[in-house]
Amino acid sequence: MKPITSLILAAGKGTRMKSKLPKVLHKVGGKPMVERVLNTVKELGTERNVVIVGFGGEAVREYLGDTAEFVTQAEQNGTGHAVKQAKPLLGSYEGTILLLCGDTPLVTKESLESLVQEHEATGAAATVLTAHLDNPTGYGRIIRDEASGKVLRIVEQKDGSPEELAVQEINTGMYAFDSQKLWPCLEELSDDNAQGELYITDVVSILVNKGERVSASMLAHMEESLGVNSRAQLAEAERILRERTNRHWMDQGVTIIDPANTYIGTDVTIGSDTVIYPGTILEGKTVIGEACEIGPHTRFTNVIVGDGNYIHFTYAHDCEVKNNTDIGPYVHLRPNTVIGDRVHIGNFVEVKNSNVGEGTKFPHLSYIGDSDVGSGVNIGCGTITVNYDGKLKHRTIIEDDAFVGCNSNLVAPVTIGKGSYVGAGSTITKPVPPKSLAVGRARQIVKENWVTEDTFKKKSK
Ligand code: UD1
Ligand code: CA
Repeated sequence: MKPITSLILAAGKGTRMKSKLPKVLHKVGGKPMVERVLNTVKELGTERNVVIVGFGGEAVREYLGDTAEFVTQAEQNGTGHAVKQAKPLLGSYEGTILLLCGDTPLVTKESLESLVQEHEATGAAATVLTAHLDNPTGYGRIIRDEASGKVLRIVEQKDGSPEELAVQEINTGMYAFDSQKLWPCLEELSDDNAQGELYITDVVSILVNKGERVSASMLAHMEESLGVNSRAQLAEAERILRERTNRHWMDQGVTIIDPANTYIGTDVTIGSDTVIYPGTILEGKTVIGEACEIGPHTRFTNVIVGDGNYIHFTYAHDCEVKNNTDIGPYVHLRPNTVIGDRVHIGNFVEVKNSNVGEGTKFPHLSYIGDSDVGSGVNIGCGTITVNYDGKLKHRTIIEDDAFVGCNSNLVAPVTIGKGSYVGAGSTITKPVPPKSLAVGRARQIVKENWVTEDTFKKKSK
């Protein structure tokens, strides 16, 4: 393959999105569309990657950082005008320019490879990636010579005659160009069209008129052509990507009970024989091991989960769960938490910035924050770590095999020694040595015969 430089058009406002955010920063599968396109072209081993920014350009630059080079298109005068802005940077470049739009997030590496292969094999000046659509409305149409089938030009929706608009082969907005043949054509673009803009699509007829060859490569899977111009198309892209990702994991041996209601990010990995129940969202750099049951209604963001875990109705983020745990329902695991093997966490429990040892149990209604909890610990219902004094957070240490009775307050910094017991309802403010019993609550008072006939009469009035 010849060297390739990618050029990604991302300057448009995306008027039809009705958004303050530049269109290409809208996310599909949890990632901005332009980032998806950029990542895909990089898989081809491009030499350079140039993004044309304009509307909201600062935000796009800031987001992409040093992952690309940038050129600014100050006024959005059309796709052809956008490409022109890259001439000072790439004018002397010799190789293939792979031109893409920042709003077509579904295109795959394989399809771009086919495009480049077709381009090189036919020695064309330009090769267009096309698709056959049942409903081509909104896209540019590929007009071919009836006799030879050669590509002659591209006609935009707003400029086409009824006959041209009946054509179902569309322009995906992705092209391979011979760089040295591209630049002169840009000087010949005219804005004499329905939108009064310079269209990159007109380069096709300009090349053909010069006697140059323009080839086409047709997408095997037409849904890769989806260009996102509206919120409805954004949801459509989301659905297609979701189906693709879910299909991939099912092929890898993961059971997804209802793929239409399961949302798996493209950077997530899942081990075989894991079952995902509906309403589950796995996002960011989440990793799930083998033979887990996850969900229903569970959301993981950047969570590392081992094997054999049963986790339902849980929200966890930036934390880790080892193996064979049983967690949920209604559990919140917060950042910097590591849950050890065979831990049981029951309903309405929150754990933050804590390490929890093997076989420990938080069966119900607890808050465990900034704590180091050993193994074999039992935390009774309603127990909380009192980690915050209004200014600073303090740690609670609960050593192995400790048993904390229900509704206790462990006022940090404090240590509950190995194997010791805390009586139910205690407020613990001092360290509890190993193997002791600590009771920190008001003594019970009993007033015998406190209830008289009078008390009863007053009540019934
Ligand atoms: C474009 C194509 C159309 C194709 C479709 C595929 C043209 C004239 N039309 O139409 O043939 O079927 O894509 O999705 O090229 N942009 C700029 N600067 C501008 C204008 C646009 O950078 O001045 C960027 C946009 O940010 C966007 C891309 O170019 O990422 C495409 O622009 P858009 O307005 O969405 O073009 P379409 O009407 O979809
Ligand atoms: Ca578009």
